[in-house]
Amino acid sequence: ATAIGSIVMSASVMASSLTVGFSQIGSESGWRAAETAVSKVEAKKRGINLKISDAQQKQENQIKAVRSFIAQGVDAIFIAPVVQTGWGPVLEEAKDYGIPVFLLDRGITVDDDSLYMTAVTADNVLEGKVAGQWLIDTVKDKPCNVVELQGTVGASVAIDRKEGFGEAIGSTDNIKIVRTQSGEFTRSKGKEVMESFIKAENGGKNICAVFAHNDDMAIGAIQAIKEAGLAPGKDILIVSIDAVPDIFKAMMEGDANATVELTPNMAGPAFDALLSYKDTGAQPPKKIVTESKLYLPKDAPMQLEMKKDLGY
Ligand code: AHR
Repeated sequence: ATAIGSIVMSASVMASSLTVGFSQIGSESGWRAAETAVSKVEAKKRGINLKISDAQQKQENQIKAVRSFIAQGVDAIFIAPVVQTGWGPVLEEAKDYGIPVFLLDRGITVDDDSLYMTAVTADNVLEGKVAGQWLIDTVKDKPCNVVELQGTVGASVAIDRKEGFGEAIGSTDNIKIVRTQSGEFTRSKGKEVMESFIKAENGGKNICAVFAHNDDMAIGAIQAIKEAGLAPGKDILIVSIDAVPDIFKAMMEGDANATVELTPNMAGPAFDALLSYKDTGAQPPKKIVTESKLYLPKDAPMQLEMKKDLGY
């Protein structure tokens, strides 16, 4: 075999013999379902045996899953951490067994960042800023009362998106957050919280825009706005994050105005970093940052087609 041929051979033999345990958060959103589906496809492409454990939104289940992966002797552990604190002890255990840990889509706060190899995430503060800037550009000098649907309490993405959006609108005098509450990243809770915002804000007439930390909560809010007799996308502007197919469908109905894309392919870059680490010992950068692009109703038809091609 040529030198190149033997390198390819050794990498593929190694890939096919790797087992990765993935502690997934659950299935709170369309984005999460897409991430799980894409992770399976990306594992298959590389001949990696992927074991997924569904934590049903509970950190304690994630900790149990990590311990079980350690006991099974997996080659690496992927975690999409539901909240950002409380990970130190279990990651120490993984480190003691020499099992590298990769974080997907959310960050953690630990004193010792050698407890994980890399975090594949978007710049979530930037996502909030992009959403805020879209609102600033859209309403211009008009006074605008915003209601905010936050993600899971304690999740890094919710904390960062709130910060970024707040920073952007903080540069204006006319845009203010008048109500903010967690809708737990789900459609049903997003709707429920939006109903309470509408009640508290003169039947929704005092609300100019919704900033939802994900598309699913935005879709729940759209339903609540319609049931209150108002027009989402017109009477109340809707800006959110994820870029899942359902928000593009809502845009095509005129019900949603803007979304910031979060790619569901977090596992692909993590698998590549793992393979290269196993092959050459190369340490990946501490953060692998994915893009945060803004999409508008004019992009919806093409985006829907593209997502269909990608299989979600
Ligand atoms: O961590 C990523 C976030 O989690 C997505 O924006 C949201 O939809 C999901 O549930």
